[in-house]
Amino acid sequence: MIVANRLPVDRVKLPDGTLGWRKSPGGLVTALEPVMRSNQGAWVGWPGTAGEEADPFVDDGLSLVPIAMSEQEVREFYEGFSNGTLWPLYHDVVAKPEFHREWWDSYVTVNRRFANRAAEVASEGATVWIQDYQLQLVPQMLRDLRPDLRIGFFLHIPFPPGELFQQLPWRRQILEGLLGADLVGFQLNGAAQNFVRLVRQRVGHKTHRDTVYLPDGRTVQATAFPISIDTNGFEELARSQSVAERATQIRAALGNPKRVLLGIDRLDYTKGIYPRLRAYSELVKDGHFDVNDSVFVQVATPSRERVEQYRVLRDDIDRLVGRINGDLGRIGKPVISYMHSSFPRHEMAALYRAADIMVVTPFRDGMNLVAKEYVACRFDNDGALVLSEFAGAANEMRQAWLINPYDINGMKATILEAAQSDDKERSRRMKAMRKTVIDNDVAKWANKFLESLTQLRPNHTKPVRPARLS
Ligand code: F6P
Repeated sequence: MIVANRLPVDRVKLPDGTLGWRKSPGGLVTALEPVMRSNQGAWVGWPGTAGEEADPFVDDGLSLVPIAMSEQEVREFYEGFSNGTLWPLYHDVVAKPEFHREWWDSYVTVNRRFANRAAEVASEGATVWIQDYQLQLVPQMLRDLRPDLRIGFFLHIPFPPGELFQQLPWRRQILEGLLGADLVGFQLNGAAQNFVRLVRQRVGHKTHRDTVYLPDGRTVQATAFPISIDTNGFEELARSQSVAERATQIRAALGNPKRVLLGIDRLDYTKGIYPRLRAYSELVKDGHFDVNDSVFVQVATPSRERVEQYRVLRDDIDRLVGRINGDLGRIGKPVISYMHSSFPRHEMAALYRAADIMVVTPFRDGMNLVAKEYVACRFDNDGALVLSEFAGAANEMRQAWLINPYDINGMKATILEAAQSDDKERSRRMKAMRKTVIDNDVAKWANKFLESLTQLRPNHTKPVRPARLS
């Protein structure tokens, strides 16, 4: 059973005015949805809007158990503590985290609601896999209610070093919450080490390497499991006739330029969209790229739109794109073709196929699945990936053109180098990255995590039955 802040589908108003469901945004759902659909599991989560309790339902073989949140809880738990406190704190304080006691109270209340509901619907001895920073108290709350369960937790975003984490007034409660799991998974080794060190220093438990020894004899393991994508699914889509046709259409609509550069991100201040567009515009201004034969396509998916820092970011990017296009564009030839919208997988695959250079420049990112999706779609071993060294993906894809997003001149030089690279060089790099993404897809990631979890608690020998929905 998965317990995640969001259900894999959001409750939305359809164009005809009725209520319906639409796939929810973000890397977590992209990664876990295929795994869960093929395992016919249950998924406990929030449908994405404030409102009353909805009944569980089955969607394409997956049992969905909606958790309600009031308008105030959306403000204080989701927009507040999750995305105004934890998100910036865990991403190297790229923005300033805010600490409010009422936000914390709401975080505790909503985590308890998730734990209670999971405890109600999980079968005897079930394996429960809790996801991400919004639910860090759930592991211990759930263990208190249901000690028979096997509990795993995975953090999709970075886990910060002690110097930053210790700013959090509720640091000990968060660590103790996570210690309710048998296995705590992180994207990178460094994050697992940060966690174990903090547990030793702040909670005072004995630790050895990746294991924490609790006073009651239980152990908790903290290990890195770098997340991945549905590599085959993306490659198949990319190879399809309809995607190939759409990619040709996209290039034609852009005026069949010599070079298409591409950025696709949730509109988030951690993604480094601003310095990326500045770097590219300076390359145009300096004469290295010509608007007549090059264009930068930037897709920014709307996200957390009521949070102040996200509103400011949107205005900043709107203004920057306007200024760059106003200063450097020509009639019918923008420097940046900017879209503030989300696209289905088919269109994403077509964009990946249409792009000569993919530019991924986060200041900090747990993994970055867009970088992996681009590589999965480049079955021709062509295309260049420019990637921030501060994205988790850079750990596995060393053959990308790596950049430091804080260093605009360095970023300019590297984008130019990627653009001027010869076929052989691009193919050498792309082949190596493709091997990584093909050998390590999301199914393997999930299997590795679940196998480790099973091995950790061999005393739980009962078969895992499908969840009982009440
Ligand atoms: O992958 C990180 C993450 O925060 C997920 O937990 C989340 O589902 C996704 O990004 C999208 O964010 P949100 O749910 O706030 O729209």
